[in-house]
Amino acid sequence: MGVLGRTAALVPAAGRGERLGAGVPKALRLIGGTPMLVHAVHALSASRAVDLVIVAAPETEVDEVRALLAEQAGTAEVIVVTGGATRQDSVARALINLPHDVDVVLVHDAARPLVPSEMVSAVVAAVRRGHDAVIPALAVTDTIKSVNADEDVIGTPDRSSLRAVQTPQGFVRSVLQSAHASANDDSATDDASLVERQGVKVHVIPGHEEAFKVTRPIDLVLAEAVLAKRRATRAIG
Ligand code: C5P
Repeated sequence: MGVLGRTAALVPAAGRGERLGAGVPKALRLIGGTPMLVHAVHALSASRAVDLVIVAAPETEVDEVRALLAEQAGTAEVIVVTGGATRQDSVARALINLPHDVDVVLVHDAARPLVPSEMVSAVVAAVRRGHDAVIPALAVTDTIKSVNADEDVIGTPDRSSLRAVQTPQGFVRSVLQSAHASANDDSATDDASLVERQGVKVHVIPGHEEAFKVTRPIDLVLAEAVLAKRRATRAIG
């Protein structure tokens, strides 16, 4: 990369969150009294490595999300756009709105509200050191099986070579844009998989336990506990 441009973080936040139970869209569920999406945007903008955040909001909640984020502004500029029917579509809609002076792009799930800002900065630093695509990941602790349609086991991959992947994932802008432009369906569950299909090398850096994805009701309990622990640590410190 030549002259340094700005770094933008795209936040797909348009999921309905059905696995969490009925109610408000997942990104607006409260943790410690604050919507998940607000935690996520704060974590990104607190990293200093991020200049701009583009949120893809549920179609019916765009105005509400705009008001919520205007009120709780951090240091980074925040833009809210309408999300799509799938995660990949939501990311693509945010990508269209990237200003010209952005050269590094992160994609971060709103559903990972408690990502430490240090991890966000580490992803950006690894891209700026020369990696085209960077993902944070953890070793898996469960043994993973492959199954067929009848739920019969067809294989047990070697656990030591498996990683559970988190976000933010970081990319050189042109790499992410061409991967999205070449995608021939919209089923990708992360952005690195689109980049992999282009034959681009994806580099893994250490993830963090607190960057877990809030998906099931138990994850909300864990998120509340992590937040309470952080608040208690701050009160003591
Ligand atoms: O479905 P899952 O929990 O894996 O979603 C990951 C992220 O993608 C969430 O932050 C969710 O809000 C977002 N998403 C989206 N648009 C969709 C579906 C999911 O922005 N249509």
